[in-house]
Amino acid sequence: MKSDLFRFPGLIDVHTHLREPGGIQKEDFETGTKAAVAGGYTQILDMPNNAPSTTTPQALDDKIVRAKGRIWCDLGFNFGAARESAKYFKNIYKKAFGLKVYMNQTTGPLLIDKFADQDLVFKSWSGKLPIMVHAQDETVEIAIKLAKKYKKRIHVCHTTTNQLGPIKKARREGTLITCEVCPHHLLLSRDDLKRLGPLGIMKPPLLSKADQVKLWDSLDLIDVISTDHAPHTLGEKYDKLSPKFGVPGLETALPLLLAAVDKGMVTIERLIAMMSTNPKKIFCLPEQPNTYVEVDLSKKYQISNRGLFTKCGWTPFIGMTGTGKVRKVVIRKKTVFSDGKFMDKPKGQVIYPN
Ligand code: NCD
Ligand code: ZN
Ligand code: ZN
Ligand code: ZN
Repeated sequence: MKSDLFRFPGLIDVHTHLREPGGIQKEDFETGTKAAVAGGYTQILDMPNNAPSTTTPQALDDKIVRAKGRIWCDLGFNFGAARESAKYFKNIYKKAFGLKVYMNQTTGPLLIDKFADQDLVFKSWSGKLPIMVHAQDETVEIAIKLAKKYKKRIHVCHTTTNQLGPIKKARREGTLITCEVCPHHLLLSRDDLKRLGPLGIMKPPLLSKADQVKLWDSLDLIDVISTDHAPHTLGEKYDKLSPKFGVPGLETALPLLLAAVDKGMVTIERLIAMMSTNPKKIFCLPEQPNTYVEVDLSKKYQISNRGLFTKCGWTPFIGMTGTGKVRKVVIRKKTVFSDGKFMDKPKGQVIYPN
């Protein structure tokens, strides 16, 4: 088959868990940014639910120091909200992108489920960038209420179907609200759980088939597609007592969504908006001149665990058909990745909000 090269802008993922420090058995800055580039991403934002969590200026600086010279794409950091971290907000908002507030229990110790604490962190956030909320189901209503009260921007992470109504209403009433959906909620459903077992568990959980269909039907409301790349080792996923929540996704998002383009479920233009233009605007990401991704759209193939760059070494999308091979990734005129191989040395930069 002849090749059919399409040039994408560098993709952007504002919701990635690179696991360094504290979880480098699952991923680290090198393997995670390689997975990003292999998936067509040139800028990603790392989440703060590490051990120790990124809730102090020291923890943020530690990540910045660790990342230097080891990252294959540009990397920025989201800061973690904790009762004790609110006093640091004014010192870090030039160095960090979103403020991440975990309003429900998920991976890691960061949880702010008392209203007084939630109120304090919303009130204290001085940055212009969004407060990114992990707020499952109706918890999103509390986030909306606080965003309204303090006139802060919020970005709803891993949005589920039952949250579209409240988001739409808040937007109509003038709340500064954006939202993201994840490929696993769009492309896997509860029906896949029997096959996947613990590999199919994440927060929020997979949707029913009916809710998944509604999510696709409401794509107009969605600003961003984020991977929520949340790698765990197979040992951790199959742990009998406490299996970990979360799935990797950086290397599979683009081919799986391009397969959806083939089926007429979304257009390529809309994908570019949700995977590059919109996240860049919402999170004030710096320009990346002379940066692009060449994808051969004629290639269709089965997603497999072989050849993945993520350290965890597995994907929940195994066996599904992807469209488009990332042939070449160019960042600031330099070819970083070409036909499955990384070139030269890691030249990614630590980035700060514009
Ligand atoms: C994420 C993780 O493992 O860090 N897990 C998940 O199930 N999504 C945390 C999160 O994004 O809530
Ligand atoms: Zn979350
Ligand atoms: Zn996450
Ligand atoms: Zn800006």
